[in-house]
Amino acid sequence: MKDFIMTMPITQELVEKKYHLYHSLINNALGKCFDRESPVMLYAPARYILEGKGKRIRPFLTLLASEAVCGSSEEALNVALAVEILHNFTLIHDDIMDQAELRHGRLTVHKKWNINAAILSGDMMIAYAYELALKAKSNRHPELIHILNDANITICEGQALDMELEEKKETTITDYLDMIAKKTGRLISAALEAGGVAGNATEDQLSALVLFGEKIGRAFQIQDDYLDIMADNGKSGKIVGGDVINGKKTYLLLRSLELTSGAEHDLLNSIIINKGIGAERVPEVKAIYKRCGVLEETAALINRNTEEALTALETLPYAEGREYLQGYANILIKRDF
Ligand code: IPE
Ligand code: IPE
Ligand code: MG
Ligand code: MG
Ligand code: MG
Repeated sequence: MKDFIMTMPITQELVEKKYHLYHSLINNALGKCFDRESPVMLYAPARYILEGKGKRIRPFLTLLASEAVCGSSEEALNVALAVEILHNFTLIHDDIMDQAELRHGRLTVHKKWNINAAILSGDMMIAYAYELALKAKSNRHPELIHILNDANITICEGQALDMELEEKKETTITDYLDMIAKKTGRLISAALEAGGVAGNATEDQLSALVLFGEKIGRAFQIQDDYLDIMADNGKSGKIVGGDVINGKKTYLLLRSLELTSGAEHDLLNSIIINKGIGAERVPEVKAIYKRCGVLEETAALINRNTEEALTALETLPYAEGREYLQGYANILIKRDF
């Protein structure tokens, strides 16, 4: 019946209100997960990563997606938790691969414990996530599990490509866009798709949600790369400039190589040749990014993908649910951490 009820326009304030409400709902539920004490090196890291300052973007999208297809957030809650736990498993393993020391402003799991604890707790979290998805009130469990599996496999492909690109001398922006679609875009589109299934969506509705997710996923990772070096000191909760230190091929680096010449180009190119740069030179790279126009182009690319995401949802039946998703996409592009 929801589609026939006249609705008020969904303001940014209303979206933020719902975000805060669902954020605490999600955090309360996550706080009840991994309550076994022993073995400590298995369960303590899982609790630790989940009590960090995660933004809970993906589970929020899952709950909104269910509502946008006339389902409820309640039936999608276990699916949302599964998605967030999978996401946090990827963060623990990503920090090993990226040799990152900080996340959410705290030591990463492999630094606080050790690599074995980080591998094992991550592995356990995958299985835990599937158990939660199976507990969702739904008669479409095989589809839910298929979506999570597909996301999981695709993230591994994306992370493998990310590692391959670190080594590769000739990388195109197309290679980069393909890699981020896999390592980041798919989990975001899967969060929406699984939320849609929990809310009993039709095939067409699922396609719209997936397309929306792919577009905001692309915008989201480009912005993550931007914030990696440009966020106000300490705000990202990660090491500032970690991507250039590690020689990551980001849109910022690849496009600024095309926009610069002379000494500036040589410095940027040295990041590719040497597979990274000393942390003390991060401010110089930042200054080049500011001068060469890449920051404006990055903002334009993020905006363009967000615009495309907004139109992808026009076919969804329930106006209010659709507007919440669109409103949240507009909030996401303004994030500064
Ligand atoms: C970080 O994702 C990993 C990426 C895919 C860029 P988030 O920025 O959503 O991480 P948390 O959960 O808020 O820490
Ligand atoms: C993360 O990409 C992708 C996954 C976690 C799968 P990044 O390596 O850029 O994420 P952060 O910046 O460490 O959060
Ligand atoms: Mg990383
Ligand atoms: Mg990474
Ligand atoms: Mg990053």
